[in-house]
Parts: sequence; C-alpha cells; structure tokens
Amino acid sequence: MDQAALKETAQALVAPGKGVWANDASPATLDKRLEAVGIVPSEEARRDFREMLIKTEGLGEFISGIILHEDTLKGNTKDGIPFTELVKKQGIIIGIKVDKGTKDLANFPGEKVTEGLDGLRERLVEYKELGARFTKWRAVITIGDGIPTDVGIEANSEVFARYAALAQEADLVPIVEPEVLMEGSHGIERCKEVTARVLKSVFKKLVDHKVFLGGMLLKPNVVHPGKDSSEEVENEKVVEATLSTLHNTVPTEVPGVVFLSGGDAAGEMTAHLDLMNEKGPHPWELAFSFERALEGPAMEVWKGDDANIPAAQKELYKRAKLNSLARSGQYKAEMEKGENGG
Ligand code: 13P
Repeated sequence: MDQAALKETAQALVAPGKGVWANDASPATLDKRLEAVGIVPSEEARRDFREMLIKTEGLGEFISGIILHEDTLKGNTKDGIPFTELVKKQGIIIGIKVDKGTKDLANFPGEKVTEGLDGLRERLVEYKELGARFTKWRAVITIGDGIPTDVGIEANSEVFARYAALAQEADLVPIVEPEVLMEGSHGIERCKEVTARVLKSVFKKLVDHKVFLGGMLLKPNVVHPGKDSSEEVENEKVVEATLSTLHNTVPTEVPGVVFLSGGDAAGEMTAHLDLMNEKGPHPWELAFSFERALEGPAMEVWKGDDANIPAAQKELYKRAKLNSLARSGQYKAEMEKGENGG
C-alpha cells in the first residue's frame, strides 16, 4: 500500500471547491429513473445520458472525481471513444463502484448486506489498469420496527472493512458509503441514533482491519426525519444533528466526508452542505458525492432529445457550481434562479 499516494488522491477528491459526482447507478436503477421522466429506457439511452453529461464543458472546475459504473468504465461513447478518455480530458479522476449490490440478510427480515467481495482483489487490479484511482462500496441500513439490529450493522461493517483494505492494497482510495435510508416514519432523533451506531461500528471494523484512515473517504447520509414522518425540521436542525453525529464518530485522520443525497431535493442538499461548511472549520473536508442531486434536474430537462442537450448540460453545470460554492459556505438560495448558478 502506497499511503502517500492514497492520501494524495483522497485529498484531491475533496480539494477546495470540489466534490465527487456519482454516475454509477446500475442499469436497472437508471432505467427506472429514465422511465420516471418519460424516457424509453434502453442501453443506448443510458449511454447517451451518461455521455452528454460527462461532456459538459467546464465540469472539471467543480468536479474532482466521477464514480462510474463498470459498464461505463469499460464502455465507449456513441462514436467509439472510451468513456475513460472523456473523463480524463475533463481533468477528472476516475472512480468505480465495486460492490455487487445488496441482498437480504438471512434470518434478519428487513435487513440487507452488500455482496461483492468474491474476486474483488482481481477486479481491482483490472479497474486500476483501466484508469481508476478510487472506488465506492455502498451498504443500506433501513430504520424500522426492531431494525437495524447489531448483527445487521456489524455484518455490513465487517464487509466494508474487508473491501476498504483490499482497495488500499491495490492503491485505490475506498469511499465507504453506509446509507441510512430515508424510507420510514421515524423522527430525526431516531435517524441520529442509528447513524451514530452505524458509523461507530464501521470505524471500529475499519481500524480492526488496519485500514489507513488518511487514505479513505466516508460517504454518509445527512441526519433527518424519515420520508413519511410528520416531523418538520429546519435546515439548521438537520445540520446540527448531522454535524454532532459526525464529530462524535468520524476520526480526525479521515481527509473528507462526501455526502450522498439519498433522494433529497437538489437545492435542499446544497443548502445543507452550505450551512455545514459555514459552521466550520471541521477536522475533515465536508464535500459532496451526489448522484440524484447533481444529475436529476439534467435528466428531467434532457427528456432523451438531442435538442435538449445544451439545456441539460447547463443544469448539471449549475448544480456542480452551486455545490462547489457550498463547499465554502458561499451558496445563496437566490442563486437557484440564475441560469448558470448565479
Ligand atoms: P444519491 O446522491 O442519489 O443518493 O446517490 C449517491 C450514491 O452514490 C448512491 O450509491
């Protein structure tokens, strides 16, 4: 393991004013999202969507790294150019989602464990040869009656640690993404308690497995009430709950925390990030690694029509720019009205 190289990559991913774009939805998930905005899903539609967005001029000003799906890492544009070439041309670091998705955890109804460790060491070597410098692994935690259990949390934590150790062995920065899902009617306090339990368990296992904390990034959820909760909370409360959870659980050696958006509205996530940074400095950089909160608005504008490509690219550019401003607490809600982000 080259600790200096890992640290350098991790720090570059959370460089001032920058963040990571997750463009790694599985084909099935991306198809559902395309369909939801009226686009007929197909392999070509997925390729064209990814291609037009990655080509957005100036994206590298705000985006440090892109997490690709394996199909994209190995795939070509419509004109036969490797996607990896497009990403490099933008001056953006190539990342790859390496888990194989979540499966029901036997004997623990309602809980999932992430699979993908078998053959991972060999896959990582291949991904590195294709140009990847960082990786992502996601686990999901559901809040419900009697769940998550300690067994469910620990099973995922153990797998995170084995994944992160293997990624670092290959000199690839691991992004550890334990997502406490927003589904459910729980309040913010319950989300806070569960998120803290999960993060404590994850870092315990990472340390047990001797993962180099200076060469990894954490990708957590923000702490807020469940989607079906009647509790209404201000941005201030979300930010306070999230920051106190992170300060209690995330070791200071970790270079950065890159939030997932989890289905939250794009502008809302930007406002959360902005206020968190306004309340800094923190021991770690606070950045973003959104998928839906970055590319969602662009997908709606695109509608699968070439004529809408410039408008869709503008939407992605705008979200990237506004989140970049939120890295230093300089975002203002009025900027949402400006075409290119104020
Ligand atoms: P969202 O920002 O849409 O939650 O996606 C982040 C991600 O990478 C999910 O694995």
